[in-house]
Amino acid sequence: MAGLSTTGTGSNSLQTSLHLTRLCRAADVPEDGGLRVELPGRLPVAVFRVGSEYFVTDDRCTHGEGPLSDGTIIGEEIVCPFHMGAFCLRTGEPTAPPCVEPLRTYAAVNRDGEIFGALSAPHVEQSRAAHGG
Ligand code: FES
Repeated sequence: MAGLSTTGTGSNSLQTSLHLTRLCRAADVPEDGGLRVELPGRLPVAVFRVGSEYFVTDDRCTHGEGPLSDGTIIGEEIVCPFHMGAFCLRTGEPTAPPCVEPLRTYAAVNRDGEIFGALSAPHVEQSRAAHGG
């Protein structure tokens, strides 16, 4: 995997080449399984472990509300627990129907037993449920 750089200084720079967000401890991710990680200001992500390799994707399936961290890993694919659609963990491409839209994937870095994800700019759904006021 190509080397990734972090921005260790600078309190509020708006433009960084690659910002890594700490997600979890590597040991918290089950082997050949996933872990849901809640983050402020964005949809949860899922961290997957396949052998000694880690992958980070959005947790929500692009077909519906399926939590992919509860899915089943087969090879390098994650199978959604809701309707058995599947995605390639490496590319996010859908590999089994009914999934047709790609899943967002993010570079994962294991640094001293901590997993970081290159989550670029937070993307928050524009269609928010009207709640409170
Ligand atoms: S919600 Fe994932 S396949 Fe339907």
